[in-house]
Amino acid sequence: MIDFSGKNVLVVGGTSGINRGVAEGFAAQGARVAVASRSQEKVDDTVRALKDLGSDAFGFTADVRDMSAVEDGVVAVHDRFGELDVVVSGAAGNFPALANDLSGNGFKSVVDIDLQGTFHVMKAIFPYLRKPGASVINISAPQASIPMMAQVHVCAAKAGVDMVTRTLALEWGKTGVRINSIVPGPIDGTEGMARLAPNEAIRKKVADGVPLRRLGTPADIGKACLFLASDLADFVTGAVIPVDGGWSQNNCGGMSDYLGSLVSRHSD
Ligand code: NAP
Ligand code: COA
Repeated sequence: MIDFSGKNVLVVGGTSGINRGVAEGFAAQGARVAVASRSQEKVDDTVRALKDLGSDAFGFTADVRDMSAVEDGVVAVHDRFGELDVVVSGAAGNFPALANDLSGNGFKSVVDIDLQGTFHVMKAIFPYLRKPGASVINISAPQASIPMMAQVHVCAAKAGVDMVTRTLALEWGKTGVRINSIVPGPIDGTEGMARLAPNEAIRKKVADGVPLRRLGTPADIGKACLFLASDLADFVTGAVIPVDGGWSQNNCGGMSDYLGSLVSRHSD
């Protein structure tokens, strides 16, 4: 599709779901791919799968809330691969909870993973990015621009992630590093969907609210990342790009009302 042989890619949070699909997408196009997350088991399993795709794969464990663990891991990737051509940052946490049922620590845990964690990744990678030419992609969510009940923590965190993207596009532009956000729609078979749309009837209702009338796949997001990381996108930076079958143009099919009723039912 697009040749990434000889390119070095790091996917933070790349050991399951959407981000693992992204990592596999780059490996299938010939890239060396490193992944990182908290679980050694998930890292090992993903590295095995990437090797099976022919990639000189590597992995490290780190909690993105721990700046020095992220820095140590990035240094290890650089020691092994050399300068990074592509970094995808997508570690995140989510659960549905109304603000009145959410503790300060519950709000903080999601902001710390999604937003502070993104900042840690950006700080850790910058010295090791290929300059000029590197492409950085933050994985956002529709909640960044569309308020949803039971998602105040995610809405606030992901809005921050998109502002990190847009601000660093200004600061990093002169170095020839591009940075963009991808905003996935509802992606089938993922942890995020399992938490927000926990049965088949709801998944069908969500799919009906997507103008293209289907749920997305991790490969849909992987293809968008390949584009953004390639020369085809060499004048694209600071963009926040929905890859969602038009879902966000349709107010996410009324997901807010559904989530509001989901958690009210649970707390009744
Ligand atoms: P997922 O399978 O749970 O993926 C999350 C990844 O991040 C895993 O690899 C997880 O591995 C890692 N992770 C979680 N907390 C971490 C931490 N504190 N430090 C380091 N790594 C951590 O979720 P997903 O549903 O595919 O979502 C992936 C991304 O897409 C997220 O950014 C999410 O907000 C976004 N998104 C998803 C959807 C959807 O429909 N699923 C829609 C819009 C946006 P460990 O458990 O090993 O740490
Ligand atoms: N409703 C309300 N509050 C919740 C909650 C829920 N469903 N789940 C967790 N919390 C609160 C906890 O009660 C705790 O607050 P407290 O100390 O005041 O009780 C706080 O959130 C932190 O919980 P904890 O389990 O200690 O956090 P963690 O750091 O181990 O895990 C999470 C972070 C909660 C985000 C966890 O779900 C996770 O690791 N998620 C990663 C996978 C994921 O979410 N994938 C989907 C990506 S879109």
